[in-house]
Amino acid sequence: MRIDILTLFPEMFVGPMTESILKRAAEERIIEIHTHNIRDFATGKHRQVDDTPYGGGAGMVMKADIVVGAIEGVIEQGQKGKREKGHNETNQSIRGNDSISQLPHRIYLSPRGKRLTQIKVEKLAKHDWLLLLCGHYEGIDQRVIDGWIDEEISIGDYVLTGGELPAMVLVDAVARHIPGVLGKEESAGEESFSKALKRKREYPHYTRPEEFRGMRVPDVLLSGHHKKIGEWRATKLS
Ligand code: ADE
Repeated sequence: MRIDILTLFPEMFVGPMTESILKRAAEERIIEIHTHNIRDFATGKHRQVDDTPYGGGAGMVMKADIVVGAIEGVIEQGQKGKREKGHNETNQSIRGNDSISQLPHRIYLSPRGKRLTQIKVEKLAKHDWLLLLCGHYEGIDQRVIDGWIDEEISIGDYVLTGGELPAMVLVDAVARHIPGVLGKEESAGEESFSKALKRKREYPHYTRPEEFRGMRVPDVLLSGHHKKIGEWRATKLS
């Protein structure tokens, strides 16, 4: 999967996107993340990316011409990248997917969006190209959303200073569902909100020692009786 992220703060992504599981996924070329600074697409002496809102009010609004220029520029770069990759890696796609999308699925992260859920995450993981647009200030000119965005997504009913942290949350959650990103040990099969656990919160876990500061591991887990363990775990889903 290719993910392009448009932001005014690309440095924020260094660290979360370049460590641990996402680092390995990038090294193994299962997932390719490209961050782009929206300001690089700004024109004029001051490279202004925002302006005051029509109708008045506090805050600034990101300008349609700059943001759309950035979206279109990034899509063009991505199409070129995918064409070149296609030539080099014919039929070697990790996901065995020969039909490379011509356009990314375009998401704007905003508190006004539809709440991100595990079901949505699993659907997003099926795309081979995502474009994530991170807003700042009061928001983005609505015409960008109406004309160039496929869906608006929120990570919860609270307001953050920008779409960067939500974009990282979305990338992390989606990446776990791309085949090959998680090792067998970390598999996303039986976990909270998974289909396997009927979309419920999962059962509690314990490891050695059997007793810790007077607190014992439930006997059933030490019994070796798999059927009973399964039944006990089923009672602990919530
Ligand atoms: N930008 C600011 N707050 C946000 C939220 N809760 N979800 C997605 N994007 C946001």
